[in-house]
Amino acid sequence: MSRNSIFSKLLAFTLIARLAAATGTGWHFVQNGTSGIVALESVIMSDNLAILFDRATNDPLQIDGHTAWGAFWNLETNTATPLRLVSDTLCSSGGFLSNGTLISVGGIAPSIPWVESGLQAIRVMEPCDDPNGVGCSMLDDPENFHLATTRWYPSSLRIFDGSLMIVGGMHEQTPFYNTDPVNSLEFFPSKDGGVPRPLDVLARAGPVNTFPRTIGLPDGRVFMAVGNQTIIYDIEANTETRLPNIPNGVRVTNPLDGAVVLLPLHPPDYTPEVLICGGSTTSDQIPSENLSTQTPATDQCSRMTLTQEGIQRGWQIERMLEPRIMPEIVLMPNGQGVIINGAQTGYASMSSVGDPIGGSNADHPAFTPSLYTPDAPLGQRISNREMPTTDIPRMYHSTATLTPQGNILVGGSNPNPTIVNGTTYPSEFRIEYLNPPSMTSDRPQLSNVPKQIAYNAEFDVNVTIPKNLNPNNIKVALMDLGFSTHAFHQSQLLVFMEGNLKDNNRRLTIKTPPNNRVYPPGPAWIYLTVDDVSSVGVRVMVGNGAPPPVPDQGVSH
Ligand SMILES: *[C@@H]1O[C@H](CO)[C@@H](O)[C@H](O)[C@H]1NC(C)=O
Ligand SMILES: *[C@@H]1O[C@H](CO)[C@@H](O)[C@H](O)[C@H]1NC(C)=O
Ligand SMILES: *[C@@H]1O[C@H](CO)[C@@H](O)[C@H](O)[C@H]1NC(C)=O
Ligand SMILES: *[C@@H]1O[C@H](CO)[C@@H](O)[C@H](O)[C@H]1NC(C)=O
Ligand SMILES: *[C@@H]1O[C@H](CO)[C@@H](O)[C@H](O)[C@H]1NC(C)=O
Ligand SMILES: *[C@@H]1O[C@H](CO)[C@@H](O)[C@H](O)[C@H]1NC(C)=O
Repeated sequence: MSRNSIFSKLLAFTLIARLAAATGTGWHFVQNGTSGIVALESVIMSDNLAILFDRATNDPLQIDGHTAWGAFWNLETNTATPLRLVSDTLCSSGGFLSNGTLISVGGIAPSIPWVESGLQAIRVMEPCDDPNGVGCSMLDDPENFHLATTRWYPSSLRIFDGSLMIVGGMHEQTPFYNTDPVNSLEFFPSKDGGVPRPLDVLARAGPVNTFPRTIGLPDGRVFMAVGNQTIIYDIEANTETRLPNIPNGVRVTNPLDGAVVLLPLHPPDYTPEVLICGGSTTSDQIPSENLSTQTPATDQCSRMTLTQEGIQRGWQIERMLEPRIMPEIVLMPNGQGVIINGAQTGYASMSSVGDPIGGSNADHPAFTPSLYTPDAPLGQRISNREMPTTDIPRMYHSTATLTPQGNILVGGSNPNPTIVNGTTYPSEFRIEYLNPPSMTSDRPQLSNVPKQIAYNAEFDVNVTIPKNLNPNNIKVALMDLGFSTHAFHQSQLLVFMEGNLKDNNRRLTIKTPPNNRVYPPGPAWIYLTVDDVSSVGVRVMVGNGAPPPVPDQGVSH
């Protein structure tokens, strides 16, 4: 291709993107509503309800005559309602159990006297559907009901028996590096008589080891990326198998946050492949005051197939279009990933480097998301050709999550210890949605979907497929939308299911995952994609909905 034709192609793409943005078709950002608290953690609870958490500081949203630090976000009206909490949720994590109950764990020792410490907290919200959170409440009683040890910056993962595995963190508030690490994991409900298990990789990878990136694999084991190290942890045998380090010294845990995701699993083999993007190659031995907001993050993505042969082949490297610290990767129902948020230079955390911008350790926000297409050839997987650009920085303490509607909720950003305005990087309350082209297309619809599905089973649903879409090109996704915070989407998972149309394309027979290791028992969303246009998601309970631990179900694959 001549330079001229490349140029005219680029021009054409730019024009198409501008036209799409102007007409609200194609990929586009929509800003709508303000969250009242900084959306530094987000999780989808039901069709129209997201739950947001911040720290107890001076957020404008009020409850009981004082500031709130939790909120219900109504995805339909784009309004926030305060959620009553007792303990400080700053830098906590969470996930769903096999019975659909939402658990939030850990947090910080509060800076407000009447707020309780969240360091050891276990918070429980029973399944809840009201879009404004009416009748939904969070049990938060850290004195009487708590973790075995204090954990600030832990990560959480729903495992094959429907329990939550809670990994790492720090005991006390340390400013940048983790100098008081909790090098162990524990479970909720507890196992091992409530005694935490030591986890060597946390010690080996320190002091850049908080929010360990933990990914459930289809055999029930757990991939972890901590610092520059990677392992597979076998929960049942309590063993660590070391894998090759992330290439070129890239580290991906806080405060050098990169995104780590399990690529979509496909039947019949469900071969696991992990993708790691962004983070930093900065040494973990430099005092934080000698670091700079202007140091580029890494643009490296590293991908590995987690089979014996795949591990032998090792990491395959590709490059993003820009370096990113604190990116998120959000899986879409068609199997693509959206790389979004973060900054091009600097680090996570706040007020620790030599030249902070206000409180921010990072600068040069990444304003344009990229699409990652897993099955494209190497070198052609990452593109922002069709992507819009926002002008709202989403850096430290921001989130992004897929919604049941099929768009991405983007919120937060607050590299400041309290709520501040008027600085370069203020506390950000504006909520945006990144809408994929499906949102403005005539979409396929699912109906008559059972509330509960078993493993290794078939079930029928009704479908409506718009005439202009090719019914020979369908994908059925079973998704855990995960729990998003600190550039890590905990428990996020996409398992494709076999789907066969019948009755004149009005009914679809779906084959469920073979067992509870491929998709851990608990809540899920089913999306139908036809010709790359995705339906709205429909919620199901996978497994029998019993509280954890649940026994193995289904067949091995
Ligand atoms: C924002 O959301 C409200 C409530 O759904 C809707 O009425 C309004 O049209 C939306 N505004 C924009 C700009 O999309
Ligand atoms: C990987 O991390 C370990 C522990 O922090 C460190 O000793 C080692 O030098 C790092 N490797 C590279 C290539 O940076
Ligand atoms: C950090 O910066 C100080 C002051 O510039 C310098 O004296 C010191 O050698 C630096 N330390 C490292 C490890 O770079
Ligand atoms: C921050 O300041 C800007 C400019 O004065 C104002 O438009 C915006 O509403 C303020 N934001 C908050 C959350 O107070
Ligand atoms: C679902 O499809 C079946 C078979 O085509 C049909 O009999 C039934 O009425 C449909 N149900 C709904 C709610 O559309
Ligand atoms: C789910 O299980 C958890 C852990 O046993 C329990 O605390 C919670 O009350 C259960 N909720 C429901 C709805 O069964």
